[in-house]
Amino acid sequence: LLTSVLRRSTAASTSVRAFTSEAAPERKVAILGAAGGIGQPLSLLMKLNPLVSRLALYDIAGTPGVAADVSHINTRSEVKGYAAEEQLGEALEGSDIVIIPAGVPRKPGMTRDDLFKINAGIVKSLCEAIAKYCPNALVNMISNPVNSTVPIAAEVFKSKGVYDERKLFGVTTLDVVRAKTFYAGKAKVNVADVNVPVIGGHAGITILPLLSQATPKANLSDEDIKALTKRTQDGGTEVVEAKAGKGSATLSMAYAGAVFADACLKGLNGAPDVVECSFVQSTVTELPFFASKVRLGKNGVEEVLGLGPLSDYEQQGLEALKAELKSSIEKGVAFVRSS
Ligand code: NAI
Repeated sequence: LLTSVLRRSTAASTSVRAFTSEAAPERKVAILGAAGGIGQPLSLLMKLNPLVSRLALYDIAGTPGVAADVSHINTRSEVKGYAAEEQLGEALEGSDIVIIPAGVPRKPGMTRDDLFKINAGIVKSLCEAIAKYCPNALVNMISNPVNSTVPIAAEVFKSKGVYDERKLFGVTTLDVVRAKTFYAGKAKVNVADVNVPVIGGHAGITILPLLSQATPKANLSDEDIKALTKRTQDGGTEVVEAKAGKGSATLSMAYAGAVFADACLKGLNGAPDVVECSFVQSTVTELPFFASKVRLGKNGVEEVLGLGPLSDYEQQGLEALKAELKSSIEKGVAFVRSS
């Protein structure tokens, strides 16, 4: 993504740029929580994406500075900052994609579920505004706990009569990004060639990398597979501990969020074979929401792909994650229904 963007923006030939902006349709992307640890680098990366024509940056604190700063970058999109709740409607209107990294991150010793109390309320009110101002937008949910915030968003949209299951995504791309990096290191293969599906949810044991399906193939021992699985599941905690109280993953998350939003944009624009893992409404298991490979298209989810063959170890992991994932989903649903 970055290389192609940089190549484009530094190209001496103006025809390259003209082609880019003429060929790609107008697309508005809104980022809610744009001035935060994730929001800032994500705003930068979305500003570098030539598929974006308008970039709306919304936060309850610090937006003007971030918007002014990002707006000076000489790429296609027009940037506007929105700083207060009364500007949220304007920020959202006409959006094709809304990315939500608003909320509090973890500190050492916290689980993603510990964030529920604060982030559930934030996500609920932002989704109410989305239902009102841009009910057709694709929603990329980053705010944790994703296993609950996605069901919260679905319940809000249902209550407003605008729910379209093809348009709601829990962003689990960082788990895929981590699995690819860790696998490439262990298997000694080129990281740029690596693919690893990650299924389930986005917290602890609910994160299940399918290393038996990783490509390029490598002969890893059972111990290696276990260690890679655990490191992928604990990747977020690794960063939380290294940051020692200063938050959770922001830079790698911004990268992952930008990769996922780019895939959504490509799908909307009709590009063929755009497949990413995401936590979506699903019938792949008995759980109502589940992360798996998803084909993206002009209306969001075009097809939720099956899990493919699992190893015995992965099958056990799948059975073991269901109870926790189920209760996180139910917690999100109950939060909206009781409020
Ligand atoms: P941060 O605290 O640095 O930034 C959050 C931003 O949200 C702040 O700028 C804050 O002003 C803003 N905000 C709070 N309430 C808001 C509201 N009602 N409307 C708009 N903006 C609001 O936190 P950080 O590190 O950026 O993390 C954000 C969220 O992303 C956390 O919930 C974190 O757990 C989650 N996360 C998700 C990951 C994933 O893989 N899905 C990975 C890493 C973090």
